[in-house]
Amino acid sequence: MANPDLEIDGGEGFPPAVEALRDRVRAADCFLFASPEHNYSVTASLKNALDWASRGKRNCWADRAAAIVCAGGDFGGARASLHLRQIGVFLDLHFINKPELHIRAFADPPKFDGEGNLIDVETRERLKKVLLSLQAFALRLQHNNKDD
Ligand SMILES: Cc1cc2nc3c(=O)[nH]c(=O)nc-3n(C[C@H](O)[C@H](O)[C@H](O)COP(=O)(O)O)c2cc1C
Repeated sequence: MANPDLEIDGGEGFPPAVEALRDRVRAADCFLFASPEHNYSVTASLKNALDWASRGKRNCWADRAAAIVCAGGDFGGARASLHLRQIGVFLDLHFINKPELHIRAFADPPKFDGEGNLIDVETRERLKKVLLSLQAFALRLQHNNKDD
């Protein structure tokens, strides 16, 4: 669990697994958060990753494009998605607004096969639109940042 007591030299360094996570976050052009909803919010493991990579002298998430896809019960994880957007305000993550993808994972027709692969054709199309929107926004943001 994210714990400042485990930071080295006041945030100059981190445990090896955290350094590896932070390196990957720093190297990414953009982020696709794909998550279930746990008790109306993001999962503890996702929050932990968000917290660790936000620590130290540099918040590793800052100024990058992001998109969210969620799966859950009747609301398709929408409440977790809104909490993630709220967290992203402080982290300086820039989420695409549309399209949204909240998958009602337990409603017919089945959306996933037994191994968790997304098999529903309509949902796959929507996912494609999310990815294209994320790509376009990430490129726009990178272009604008170069001009700064
Ligand atoms: C601790 C816990 C809390 C959960 N809370 C929610 C919730 O608030 N809303 C929701 O739609 N689903 C909730 N779920 C169900 C998850 O959405 C579901 O576990 C997830 O979609 C993954 O499906 P699976 O458990 O069949 O792998 C919860 C599951 C767990 C384990």
